[in-house]
Amino acid sequence: MHDAGVDLHTDRPHPARVYNYLLGGDVYFDADRDAAEQGMKSNPHSRVPPRENRAFLRRAVRFLAAERGIDQFLDIGTGIPSPPNVHHVAQSVHPGARVVYVDHDPIVLAHAEGLLDGTGVTRFLKADLLEPRAILESPEVRETLDLDRPVGLLLIAVLHFAGDDQDPYALVAELLAALPPGSYLALSHLTGDFAPEAWAAVTEIYRRQGVTMRVRAKPEIARFFAGLELVEPGLQVLPHWHPETDEPPPPDGAVSVYGAVARKP
Ligand SMILES: C[S@@+](CC[C@H](N)C(=O)[O-])C[C@H]1O[C@@H](n2cnc3c(N)ncnc32)[C@H](O)[C@@H]1O
Repeated sequence: MHDAGVDLHTDRPHPARVYNYLLGGDVYFDADRDAAEQGMKSNPHSRVPPRENRAFLRRAVRFLAAERGIDQFLDIGTGIPSPPNVHHVAQSVHPGARVVYVDHDPIVLAHAEGLLDGTGVTRFLKADLLEPRAILESPEVRETLDLDRPVGLLLIAVLHFAGDDQDPYALVAELLAALPPGSYLALSHLTGDFAPEAWAAVTEIYRRQGVTMRVRAKPEIARFFAGLELVEPGLQVLPHWHPETDEPPPPDGAVSVYGAVARKP
């Protein structure tokens, strides 16, 4: 399964694998499971954010494809495949829809076949969000996406792994600057607004293992959309963004993730 030359750092938790564990997947190691279980002691709702996040991702992609005609996506911080993935949703609307998936974790690369549809219109790039230029200039992006036509930029549950010292606002601005007007940003981000102590504890578990996690308050998350036109109903706790069911949503404090979709004018 794994490239023997790649160090997966199985001795410490990785966000992609912890997330997969919380989603009920089977791609994780002991360190990931231990971190997730420890997190659940501080925050018993830990499985809710990943589940709601995947649902938001799919609703946002379907909305962009069906309602706004977007047929090419750049998905940074993809995670371990968990079908339906972005191309499944986008191609259900536009059969030839193009997707470039980007993640810096070698475990995602090891499972990237789950992200490829075999026709070359979906590609995987192992690269870092912290280096937007390398992503934008990569052959994967240049050969797959037409940057003269609107693109859906997906930054779903990834920016809370960028610390303030990494200037996440500049990273988003640089990515958006490369996309033409009419492009969209779909973004979700963990918040400590509702359960600050629980999220401080989870952040501390990651910090002790050398992983940066920075939950942000609603106004800090709103800043990522500066200069863009927010699609109604704006920045919401995820289940309140274009809900598709009449079932009562989980409490905001259990979800603790805000998300929105916005258009570049
Ligand atoms: C919580 S998962 C979210 C996965 C997916 N976007 C979703 O919403 O289901 C975060 C992903 O972001 C990736 N990630 C974190 N920091 C990154 C960075 N600097 N560059 C690229 N990927 C990163 C992790 O490896 C992980 O796969």
